[in-house]
This record gives sequence, C-alpha cells and structure tokens, in this order.
Amino acid sequence: MKNRFTELAGVEVPLLCGPMYPCSNPELVAAVSEAGGLGIIQPLSLVYVHKLEFREGLRRIRSLTQKPVGLNILTEKSLSAVYRKRMEEYLEASLEAGIRFFITALGNPDWVVKRAHAAGAVVFHDVVDRKWAEKGIAEGVDGLICVNRRAGGHAGRKTPQELHAELSDLGVPLVCAGGVGSEAEFRAMLDLGYAAVQMGTRFIATEECTAHADYKKAILDAEEKDIVMTERITGVPLSIIRTPFVERMGTKAGPIGRWMLSGHRTKHWMRAIYSIRSAFQLRNASMKGASSKDFWQAGKSVATIHSVESAAAIVRRFAAAIG
Ligand SMILES: Cc1cc2nc3c(=O)[nH]c(=O)nc-3n(C[C@H](O)[C@H](O)[C@H](O)COP(=O)(O)O)c2cc1C
Repeated sequence: MKNRFTELAGVEVPLLCGPMYPCSNPELVAAVSEAGGLGIIQPLSLVYVHKLEFREGLRRIRSLTQKPVGLNILTEKSLSAVYRKRMEEYLEASLEAGIRFFITALGNPDWVVKRAHAAGAVVFHDVVDRKWAEKGIAEGVDGLICVNRRAGGHAGRKTPQELHAELSDLGVPLVCAGGVGSEAEFRAMLDLGYAAVQMGTRFIATEECTAHADYKKAILDAEEKDIVMTERITGVPLSIIRTPFVERMGTKAGPIGRWMLSGHRTKHWMRAIYSIRSAFQLRNASMKGASSKDFWQAGKSVATIHSVESAAAIVRRFAAAIG
C-alpha cells in the first residue's frame, strides 16, 4: 500500500512501532523496520534502560536492519538545559546515521523541524487536539501522530473517530495512535482516513521486546476494563494495567502534586520531578517482573492481543490485511 505516509517515511507498510520508554529495545525497533514497518527509537530507553551509548545503539540497530527507522525527540518545556542539549546531540547523531524520520512530543517542535528539514528529513508531531495540531503545523511539521483516549502511555482524551474528524482538514497525513491490536482495527483506521497506525502495546507482546515475561503475560490476560488512567506516575494521565498495587495507591495525584499541577509555573517543575521518579519506577516494573509495585503501561488494545508473536509476523499479518 502506497500513500503520503509510506512515501514520506520510505516504508512499505503504514505501520509504526511507537517509541516506548522503557520497552523500545534495539532488537524490537530493528525487527519492525526490517519487516517493512517503521520502528521508532526512544533515546532515553536506548541509553538509560538498554544501556547503550547513543551512537553505539544506532550502530546496533543498523547492524540488524538497513531499512528506515525513526527517532522520538522530547521537546517538553520542562526539560532541563542538560536534557535539551542531549536531545540536540541525539538529533545530530541520528541525522549523521541517515535517520530521516522524527517524532516530536510534548512541546514546541520548531528547533527539530528547522534542523530536520535542512537535512531533508520529516517531522511528525504528537497531538491530542486541534490546538496543538495547529501550533505544530504553524512550525512546519509534516504530519501528526494523533494520540487518542485508547492509547497506552500518555493517552489523549478523544476517540480515534473524533480526532480524525477534528484534524482531517489540516492537509497533512494523520497517524492513528492508540487502541489498535488486531488487523481488523488496523484496516478500520485506514478506512476511516488515517494514513498509518502507530502501535505500542501490541509490540510489547513480541519475542523481540525485552520487557519481562510477567509484563507480556499481563497484557495477554488484561481486558479493556483492566486499563486505568493514573496521574500518580508522571503527573499527566498515563494508561496502565490495574494491579493490586495500583488499586492500593489510587490513580489521582496527591494533594501536593495537585497544587503543583494547578499552578502555571510550578506545573512544569512538577512534571519534571515526576518524570525523574517515574523513569525509575517504570523501568523497574517493566524489566524486573511481578513485584509488590507493578506499574505496567498498556492501552485498550489489550482487548485484541492474545499471544506473544514475532514483530515480523505481526507486520506481515497486518500488511496482508490491507494488501
Ligand atoms: C510502555 C509504553 C511506553 C510508551 N512510551 C512512549 C514514549 O516514551 N514516547 C512517546 O511518544 N510515546 C510513548 N508511548 C506511546 C506509544 O508510542 C504509542 O503511541 C501508543 O502505545 C499507541 O497506543 P497502543 O499502546 O494502544 O498501541 C508509550 C506507550 C507504551 C505502551
């Protein structure tokens, strides 16, 4: 299938394995791309979870596939100067390594767009509504990753249908992110008018993903009703599997967190504090397996995920459904 997305990304199948902290390991990213989809690197996952110096990580991926891969760049305002500099270095190293597809998230993508376009690369921007989509387009992004309320990780507020209706006149290709675990859902989203689909949860339950077997089993066992939103991990709603630990802790931010989140200036600080703490929590839970502190990110797509498969088998199965 050829469309504006496959042309811009240089891939055969309009299917992305979305960036996932801490689940994006090099083997998973490479396997999706090698099979004809687009694997997206999550740089903090590569460096801090999978313990590869960034350029070494890129070389590892390149040794597994020569096909296009993408990179997620965090542009969140609350990033410290150190992180911002690191993101700039990751962008430069990726361009040198031939990467030509970037996904920006959480903030103003202007500096990424300028640098990427100068190198002939494209930038897709994560959005949850029209306001952020228009801002991204004003900065020159080439497409939008439309994060809906069914997504794993930081979910949006709208259904895939509502988001598509809200954004389809903007003139850029739209990627559906959230809630797709089966080829029937994949085809339905393309039929609706999305140019591609980004999946996260489905690709955790794969042979290549190095997340703990208990995490994969929790995805297979979970039903849609087991997915809950919590503010307690990163300060913004995060979609996770309900476990006894999540029930004990609750899903609302605590009183200090709520006060901090309500203040315009303190909000970014709160998110930064949450994200350092949450980075460790999420890493431990995902890589070490079941414990008394289980925090497993997953979206409502768990409903249609029933087995651990190879990433290539998934890409091939989905490609056949639209072929
Ligand atoms: C474990 C996990 C971690 C994620 N981490 C990130 C991330 O670091 N950056 C990002 O832009 N999106 C992140 N996402 C969102 C995914 O890239 C993707 O958009 C989402 O998973 C799609 O919804 P699905 O899980 O229903 O397929 C994450 C999702 C999951 C499940």
